Amino acid sequence: MKNMIDEKKQGASLILESDTNNSKKLFIESYGCAMNFSDSEIVASILSKQGFNTTQHLEEADLVLVNTCSIRDKAEQTVRKRLEKYNAVKRINPKMKVGVLGCMAERLKSKFLEEEKIVDLVVGPDAYKDLPNLIAEVEDGRNAVNVILSKEETYGDISPVRLNSNGITAFVSITRGCDNMCTFCVVPFTRGRERSRDVQSILKEIDDLASKGYKEITLLGQNVDSYLWYGGGLKKDFEKASEIQKATAVNFSKLLALCAKAQPKMRIRFSTSNPQDMSLDVIETMAKYDNICNHIHLPVQSGSDRVLKAMNRLHTRKEYFTLIDNIRRIIPECAISQDMIAGFPTETEKDHKDTMSLMEYVKYNFGYMFTYSERPGTLAERKLEDDVPETIKKQRLSEIIELQLKHSEYRTKQHLNKTVEVLIERESKKSNLHWSGRTQHNIVAVFPKGEFKIGDFVNVKVTDCTKATLIGEGVSKSKNN
Ligand code: SAH
Ligand code: F3S
Repeated sequence: MKNMIDEKKQGASLILESDTNNSKKLFIESYGCAMNFSDSEIVASILSKQGFNTTQHLEEADLVLVNTCSIRDKAEQTVRKRLEKYNAVKRINPKMKVGVLGCMAERLKSKFLEEEKIVDLVVGPDAYKDLPNLIAEVEDGRNAVNVILSKEETYGDISPVRLNSNGITAFVSITRGCDNMCTFCVVPFTRGRERSRDVQSILKEIDDLASKGYKEITLLGQNVDSYLWYGGGLKKDFEKASEIQKATAVNFSKLLALCAKAQPKMRIRFSTSNPQDMSLDVIETMAKYDNICNHIHLPVQSGSDRVLKAMNRLHTRKEYFTLIDNIRRIIPECAISQDMIAGFPTETEKDHKDTMSLMEYVKYNFGYMFTYSERPGTLAERKLEDDVPETIKKQRLSEIIELQLKHSEYRTKQHLNKTVEVLIERESKKSNLHWSGRTQHNIVAVFPKGEFKIGDFVNVKVTDCTKATLIGEGVSKSKNN
């Protein structure tokens, strides 16, 4: 089981929509959550109008941008290591400029320039439209910083340049920021207040993707279920909106339905759902439209009521079980995945056992599991001592991972000898004679290429499986093509 894509995903910088008039070269890479990858596509779009085409070769870059993650200390260390690598390249190419984007930029602000001498440019997640000005400063030999957080910016008007794309699946961002203030989490500080993107701009982006041959989109936000479009403005100001705005407001379940109806042949996914904000309407909408994938990423973090409270997760264990029961009642086969934190401050052996028993109840399809990492400025850092010893955190984490592996295997095996629909995304990494794709439940499936091609929806008879991957034979193209 992968321990989270977060710190591991490597960015790349394939040119898809290059402008032949552009002469400068941008190397951009991303770390962290899907939102960072999506933001880098917005940045590439803004800079394509400033004479930059992307390159995959660090050595030839005029400008290197790294989109950073602050969620755990390890994620930040990974970025610092990358900066060392840029430094080595800069010795050969001294004209190369280096900029830091994203959550670390927002967290460290101009301190970054002092701590890492290689950095010329520091830009927070809401300031990307200022990049042309900031780069001009840097090209004139001055350092530049903009880390102002916005209450309105959603980049809804920017058409992303798809980076490192398979041409089949894409992210579409629908909200920015987060108002939830979980006590362990740095995101509300680095990404600011929660705001939603204009419905029309979302639908337009999806139409555009469909016309370019994309087959699957993932609606992205830190907390998608609290999506609310009423003409612009912060979620928290909705109460002050006019009666007309309130009557015509679009919440997440309505948005899902609009997307599903607009492109009935496209698969729709979404991430992430905070259990406290997920409504029955969303589950019912999923059940109503065949093209909304039956998979919910539903991070719980802990199975202990006491710890959930200390984390400021605004639901109890019992309420979480009710939500799970509702999901299974309305969509019996729905895949459910988790995020879990081991060793939050004050966590006892009993709390940990509660986490294990919660997992036993849900039997998640898969999960992303971490040890607690204290983040500067969060409520947990200010109010609670990071008192669970590292060895115990690790021990509990490995028990959680082991149990998850058992459940993943159990869930994967349930597909044996059945036929599942797979959207082909790429060649299998292990064999150039096989395709690799995913089922609607987000399980990877591999099968011989046959007459099928990338982007086909294929009925695959599952003949074998590993813990996390289905192995089968392509039977026919499905009716969804
Ligand atoms: N918005 C999502 C979570 C975003 S952060 C939600 O509703 O839960 C992604 C995951 O990183 C979280 O779910 C959590 O499991 C993990 N995480 C966040 N802060 C962390 C910290 N300080 N230490 C360890 N893991 C953390
Ligand atoms: Fe973080 Fe909680 Fe928001 S985990 S992103 S503060 S929902």
